[in-house]
Amino acid sequence: MPQPTRDDRFSFGLWTVGWPARDPFGDATRPALDPVESVHRLAELGAYGVTFHDDDLIPFGTPAAERDRLIARFKQALEETGLVVPMVTTNLFTHPVFKDGAFTSNDRGVRRFALRKVLRNLDLAAELGASTYVFWGGREGAEVDAGKDIGAALDRYREGIDMLAGYVKEQGYGIRFAIEPKPNEPRGDILLPTVGHALAFIAELEHGDIVGVNPEVGHEQMAGLNYSAGIAQALWAGKLFHIDLNGQRGIKYDQDLVFGHGDLLNAFATVDLLEHGAPGGGPAYDGPRHFDYKPLRTEDVDGVWVSAAANMRTYLLLKERAAAFRADPEVAEALAVAGVADLAKPTLNPGETVADLLADRSAFEDFDADKAGERGYGFVRLAQLAVDHLTGAR
Ligand code: GCO
Ligand code: MN
Ligand code: MN
Repeated sequence: MPQPTRDDRFSFGLWTVGWPARDPFGDATRPALDPVESVHRLAELGAYGVTFHDDDLIPFGTPAAERDRLIARFKQALEETGLVVPMVTTNLFTHPVFKDGAFTSNDRGVRRFALRKVLRNLDLAAELGASTYVFWGGREGAEVDAGKDIGAALDRYREGIDMLAGYVKEQGYGIRFAIEPKPNEPRGDILLPTVGHALAFIAELEHGDIVGVNPEVGHEQMAGLNYSAGIAQALWAGKLFHIDLNGQRGIKYDQDLVFGHGDLLNAFATVDLLEHGAPGGGPAYDGPRHFDYKPLRTEDVDGVWVSAAANMRTYLLLKERAAAFRADPEVAEALAVAGVADLAKPTLNPGETVADLLADRSAFEDFDADKAGERGYGFVRLAQLAVDHLTGAR
């Protein structure tokens, strides 16, 4: 059985294993975890990195001296274990001040406060050597259409992200930003609800060169979308800066299940894409494999560590299965029948003009559309080969 090692670059948020399992209907079912203990346990399990929101490490409102002490003991735990901090983010959603959003709150004072909260935490992220800073705008949204000017909200979102990105460049921090889309929850509708919306937003930024996306499996699936197709487009755009792996079972509340404990077949496609890149030769993902999940509320503290290990185990099992899938000659043959690699060939010949295409009778006048329409692509056989590999039947 595969065992996780540092080379696998698995990382976890402090808020994942540390979730005390309070939900809108019930109290916490587990005690809060000391971040120092989480660092040690994650290192023992084979993770290489830990990530956090400012407030996971330093509770909101902590006085400066106590803040320094909390950071110092966290750093000591990192030194003792060799764990790194690849990504840091900001909590712009828990405190009541953010109930109408942070960068896009209708209250200008709240917007300025949010920027200051991020600026302070960016300094800490740089100090800890993080290379990615995630922006999940959970409260950037609305429930009442008349209550939010969406265009103005996007202007303010852009203003905030551009100001912060400009700061990072000025300071020479070498940090890139990753926007995490989500369609809803906790707001009725959240701005930048999908990977596509986020990519379109990034194209409007002044400092878009250092801004990409952090797609989460469950968030795309909450919108009924295909996660592996979404990250394939982000890879294509050169914008897949980070990922949040977890599980989700269909269009419902955000489940944050263990990776693979939802749509397993799509998880297989996801690992295959992350590890090998697109079949036509697109780039593979080279960032951390970050898990953003919540241990079920039914689990005790031991169950938390079982669930953390489960994420990594699922990933490594799927990685093995994906490698076998790619190496299988029958898969290669099915891919050829389906014409998957043929799609990488440009539709026009080198230098071919519209006039050339119009003059090419074989493309239209003499093209036998009925015959081309008879072709079977064999996609079902390909799908079943994937299922065979996934279930260990091949
Ligand atoms: C969610 C989100 C959040 C963010 C995290 C980073 O489940 O709605 O994943 O957990 O990823 O807060 O800011
Ligand atoms: Mn989520
Ligand atoms: Mn997430």
